[in-house]
Amino acid sequence: MLREKAKTVREVTPNILKLLDNMADTMYAAKGVGLAAPQIGVSKRVIVVDVGEGLVELINPEIIEAFGKAVDTEGCLSVPGMAGEVTRAEKVVIKGLNRKGEEVSYRVCGYMARAFQHEIDHLEGVVFVDKAENLRKLEQ
Ligand code: CO
Repeated sequence: MLREKAKTVREVTPNILKLLDNMADTMYAAKGVGLAAPQIGVSKRVIVVDVGEGLVELINPEIIEAFGKAVDTEGCLSVPGMAGEVTRAEKVVIKGLNRKGEEVSYRVCGYMARAFQHEIDHLEGVVFVDKAENLRKLEQ
């Protein structure tokens, strides 16, 4: 599942809302900053992100603009105990649907931009270890 391209959501149904709730619960319980649906076994283009600035839920997220480059350390709830440095865009503009099915966009930078890019990668079957340098095991 983690290696598959996730499917586009055609309609924001009650099941999608339930999925969003479940994903936020899972992310917070694991003290993560983001989660993509394939990480809990659902092949749908749905992500949640909270880097400490509030919960963002996005359905069918897309990066529509990207600027600059930044390198920082990442980990992933699906690859526990591993970390590495990943080069990503420094700023991105992202669009998608919110839980009401309305189109929304976010212009974000820094860690939030990183979190969005990491989660959107999951929807393409890409895991951070594919892109990381200096990949290493963390002391448990
Ligand atoms: Co991840």
